Amino acid sequence: MKPGPELTNGDAYVVKQIPYGPGCWLIRLAAPIHAPIAAGQFAHVRVDPENDAPLLRRPFSFWDTHVHDDAWTSVDLLYTVVGRGTALLERRRPLDKVGFLGPLGRGFTPRRDKRIFVFVAGGVGIVPFHLFAKQIRRSGHDPRIILLFGARTAGALWGVDDFPALDVEVHAATEDGSRGSKGLVTDLLETRLRKLRRRDLMIYTCGPDAMMKRVIQSARRKQIPCEASLERRMGCALGACGACVTRVRDGADWRYSRICLEGPTYDAADLVLDEAQA
Ligand SMILES: Cc1cc2nc3c(=O)[nH]c(=O)nc-3n(C[C@H](O)[C@H](O)[C@H](O)COP(=O)(O)OP(=O)(O)OC[C@H]3O[C@@H](n4cnc5c(N)ncnc54)[C@H](O)[C@@H]3O)c2cc1C
Ligand code: FES
Repeated sequence: MKPGPELTNGDAYVVKQIPYGPGCWLIRLAAPIHAPIAAGQFAHVRVDPENDAPLLRRPFSFWDTHVHDDAWTSVDLLYTVVGRGTALLERRRPLDKVGFLGPLGRGFTPRRDKRIFVFVAGGVGIVPFHLFAKQIRRSGHDPRIILLFGARTAGALWGVDDFPALDVEVHAATEDGSRGSKGLVTDLLETRLRKLRRRDLMIYTCGPDAMMKRVIQSARRKQIPCEASLERRMGCALGACGACVTRVRDGADWRYSRICLEGPTYDAADLVLDEAQA
């Protein structure tokens, strides 16, 4: 499948890199982006287009966007260094070129009929929630936003201190107890849900599959609508290679869905949970 005219598929330029915690960076790219970007969509980035390796692009969510004029938008990506591609990205400097394909996929749906949005994030799953909170605050809809953010330790709560400025209530859970409550963010969710009126709520989640599975189970048990944004390794990100599938309900049966096209954000009610956990 070829990218449509609304997609940018070309060079972007590094504007700056800002350290955002141990092994975590915010990279600002300037790119000729013509389509509006919805929180939860992603960019497929070729970290070094002038070299053959790594050939495959890497997917990243949008942390923030700044539209300058009709021609240029700058986008902020927040990433952690986990392997070869992200280690190379960390070495890119201002005015270096990267390959930019995007915006891709389906973002979150802001539910205007709900008064309280609960974001449940784990690790780099935090990234799309920053842009989402910013877009909600600009939209004129003014829900209470509660962020429940889980990580192994305080230093891995990437970007957490940027949320209060967006009028987001932040509650952290760390496995070692170094910040917020000690334990899993899913336990924090259970505690918070007991204190909130069910019919006011909409849950959005992004993070490791095991975490999202428990969030979705809680939402189903309490009949709270929920959207989940999945992370998978990707190849083409254009629906052609089949590298990124998950199982979704299809009537009484199920089918494979390509996350790069129909996701990464899904109505949690549509996901077949065993696959979401794999
Ligand atoms: C839609 C989407 C949005 C994403 N947004 C962000 C983001 O905002 N910030 C960020 O830091 N990362 C994000 N990721 C994950 C990011 O794409 C990977 O960390 C990156 O591709 C790793 O590349 P690498 O070459 O450094 O690591 P590799 O050498 O390819 O892999 C290193 C390790 O990371 C694991 N890994 C690689 N890709 C993924 C993946 N997609 N999911 C789970 N494990 C993986 C590998 O199994 C391996 O253990 C996102 C992924 C998706 C699909
Ligand atoms: S990454 Fe190729 S089909 Fe989704």
